[in-house]
Amino acid sequence: MTTRPYDIILFGATGFTGRLVAARLAEKQSPEGFRFAIAGRSIEKLEQLRQQIGDMEMGCIRADSGDLQSLEAMTAQATILINTAGPFNWYGESVVKACITTGTHYLDITGEPAFVHQVYSRYHQEAQQVGVCLVNCCGFDSIPADLATWLTARSLPRESPKTVRTFLRTNATFSGGTWTTAIHAIYRRTVHREERLSSGPRHPDTPRLDLKIHFSRLVDRWAIPMPVVDPHIVKRSARQLPDDYGEAFAYGQFFTLSSFWKVVRLIVPIAAVFILVRFAATRNWLFNRFRPGTGPSAETRSKSRFEVRAIGQAGKLQMETIVSGGDPGYDETAKMLTEAAFTMRDRLAAHRLISGVRTPVEALGMDLVDRLRKEGIRIETHPHGQ
Ligand SMILES: NC(=O)c1ccc[n+]([C@@H]2O[C@H](COP(=O)([O-])OP(=O)(O)OC[C@H]3O[C@@H](n4cnc5c(N)ncnc54)[C@H](OP(=O)(O)O)[C@@H]3O)[C@@H](O)[C@H]2O)c1
Repeated sequence: MTTRPYDIILFGATGFTGRLVAARLAEKQSPEGFRFAIAGRSIEKLEQLRQQIGDMEMGCIRADSGDLQSLEAMTAQATILINTAGPFNWYGESVVKACITTGTHYLDITGEPAFVHQVYSRYHQEAQQVGVCLVNCCGFDSIPADLATWLTARSLPRESPKTVRTFLRTNATFSGGTWTTAIHAIYRRTVHREERLSSGPRHPDTPRLDLKIHFSRLVDRWAIPMPVVDPHIVKRSARQLPDDYGEAFAYGQFFTLSSFWKVVRLIVPIAAVFILVRFAATRNWLFNRFRPGTGPSAETRSKSRFEVRAIGQAGKLQMETIVSGGDPGYDETAKMLTEAAFTMRDRLAAHRLISGVRTPVEALGMDLVDRLRKEGIRIETHPHGQ
């Protein structure tokens, strides 16, 4: 590590997810051996959090995403910056800029495709030039899908074109910050007709995947296509690592439910949100439904589970990777993000950290898989059907 005062700074520490990440960093400080600080726009809230966690060694830094100087003063003090201040479409770009200026490595938990696209298209080359590694989507978006798809693709023979479908099953709920972020993303997409993000050139042998609601015999459940950030990340990993995925690689992602009735109960409210978001009054009503800073209670989270099954095919062979764990959006996101930061730190120390804007698989690969397994996340690859 460098001579900077902190190995890791957590920006957005006072938010619902940030508080869980801060608590986990404090818990891991002694076994992992790192110096860290929490950061945000309110020093009072940071002090309060420090008291609550009961770790008075932890530094507190005031920085506001609307004030680039304060961000640079913060990022200059850390080797790695973890960002949980979202919506990232609102608060994210200036933090990325500050990291590039001060040569600070960066991880976040965005799930916003437009932000991910923006960071890659605007900063990849610059990050490579200055030797900084930036990794978006180090939470439930997109670590399980990215790792599961990679492990499945690698287990299939190289010669034939490969197809991987991931199927998500969860009973989890969301925070006020995630709700605000999702409503804002839907608003940008429907009202501002935000550009559809290209996945890059298509190899002529790439298999075609039908992305529609259907009953999948692969998992014996109803499958609904998920237009979320994971496909962008997975396809970028595939483009960067053709030895693992092959040149002709197709990917599809689905949320699964046990009955058609449940599909209807999910789709109708989502369709209503797409309509309500178009009008200022109903949009504001939607924004006010759940307050930023709030989220599911510890008791609710303790009952939440997720399972991602990545089922891949090449020729006649079908392989599958299962990634599963507890509450995906918050407890496991805090785990994934902190373990991603520790993996980044290890790779940096071993001179194995690549620069540029990278996916979790590209930047952290098998070291992250090993760490998550040790932390109780199940990650297993085997032939499908066994
Ligand atoms: N990828 C995933 O799996 C995943 C999982 C969980 C969350 N998320 C995303 O993470 C983000 C945070 O979620 P959350 O539930 O934790 O939201 P939240 O509770 O609303 O927290 C938002 C954080 O951003 C901070 N913030 C707001 N404006 C700021 C500014 N101008 N300068 C500095 N900080 C500012 C807030 O500070 P104050 O406390 O001072 O208001 C707070 O710390 C959301 O975008 C959510 O979608 C993603």
